[in-house]
Amino acid sequence: MSISGGTDEAARSDSALTDAEVQRLREDFPILQTQVNGHPLAYLDSGATSQRPLAVLDAERDFASTLNAAVHRGAHTLAAEATEVFEDARATVARFVGADDGEIVWTSNATEALNLIAYSISNAASGRGGAAAERFRLREGDEIVTTEMEHHANLIPWQELAARTGATLRVIPLDDDGALRLDVAAEIIGPRTRLIAVTHVSNVLGVINPVSTVVSLAREVGALVVLDACQSAPHLPLDVRALDVDFAVLSGHKMLGPTGIGALYGRRELLEAMPPFLTGGSMITTVTTTEAEYLPPPQRFEAGTQRVSQAVALAAAIDYLTAVGMPRIAAHEAAFGRRLVDGLAAIDGVRVLGAGIDLPRVGLASFDVAGIHSHDVGQFLDDRGIAVRVGHHCAQPLHRRLGIISSTRASTYLYTTEAEVDAVIDGVQAAIDFFRRGA
Ligand SMILES: Cc1ncc(COP(=O)(O)O)c(C=O)c1O
Repeated sequence: MSISGGTDEAARSDSALTDAEVQRLREDFPILQTQVNGHPLAYLDSGATSQRPLAVLDAERDFASTLNAAVHRGAHTLAAEATEVFEDARATVARFVGADDGEIVWTSNATEALNLIAYSISNAASGRGGAAAERFRLREGDEIVTTEMEHHANLIPWQELAARTGATLRVIPLDDDGALRLDVAAEIIGPRTRLIAVTHVSNVLGVINPVSTVVSLAREVGALVVLDACQSAPHLPLDVRALDVDFAVLSGHKMLGPTGIGALYGRRELLEAMPPFLTGGSMITTVTTTEAEYLPPPQRFEAGTQRVSQAVALAAAIDYLTAVGMPRIAAHEAAFGRRLVDGLAAIDGVRVLGAGIDLPRVGLASFDVAGIHSHDVGQFLDDRGIAVRVGHHCAQPLHRRLGIISSTRASTYLYTTEAEVDAVIDGVQAAIDFFRRGA
């Protein structure tokens, strides 16, 4: 990695990355040197998936070239070494989020991690897991609470869980700006609430939600808290113990890692009591033709052959992020988030979603351009080599609440330059000029 820890840089441990540092970081990302539509690529779609530095690409390739073997299965040397690096990678994720190694379960992405929790709970509801799993049993009259701003991945699994168990799904609404109505949350969360699922950072608004308020409400009534950390783990220092959540999920591909790997954090005593979701090889101690005994967590939740090279590459991504410094990445993102929001909101005809919310943010802004479809805005920017996301960003209820069906989203990361942020803002103004002229 090219960023160095010289004295000056070390002294700036909480300050935003300098332009020179970002330029040096960019050299580590081969894709950022490419051209798109005759322009240097300006990648403003890290909220969907991030780009990978050489250290991550090399880690995956090195594993495949020198260590590839199935983990927790073979007695041969390669299998033992592969198992060791796989478990080291788990420890890296655990350290990164402030958890113990045994509290991290590998999944293929955050969506699978959320479904794992929901299906384990409904397995408990149907009597699996015995007395230990009693605390997860949902019944008619019980309530699951989520919010109107969730990504579909943190909404549909709870709709399905409610349908399977007879529990009721309740939704914390948003105000006209898109902020969580915490006053209403305090009314909704009550003695019937068994589980609350909330996103740490909205993938549409870019705001960092006041999770501690939701956790306090949950603690008052003994409800479990599931945190969707997909958009926070890549961009902020994350400490699941300090946040006092029961579960948290993240996706490797949003934090410089490969696709196909994600992680679930679960408080140890909860994972120990939860029945498995997927069953099969590698998660058992004894099997007869009629029944099976399961391993303790995390292996109990890791049925089948594991994604080892992806786990190792995710650990390399975390090492990279840690070396740059999460507080510095957060400061970089906060500055660019503000620049995007202010620059876009100043354009006549542009409505930045959540612009009025007074909360800290990451480097992500979604916006609606009056009279121009988000797909046209995205296409116009793409012609300039600028990659953004268009559509509903898997958050249809949030868009519906704000009175629109789609938006354009620009999202930054540690490799984003100020010039790229300004190119988005200039590009949106140019798109408006172009389409209005044509109208
Ligand atoms: C807030 C949030 N939650 C969950 C997800 C789902 O992540 P994945 O598709 O990697 O499972 C995303 C991805 O866009 C997201 O932004």
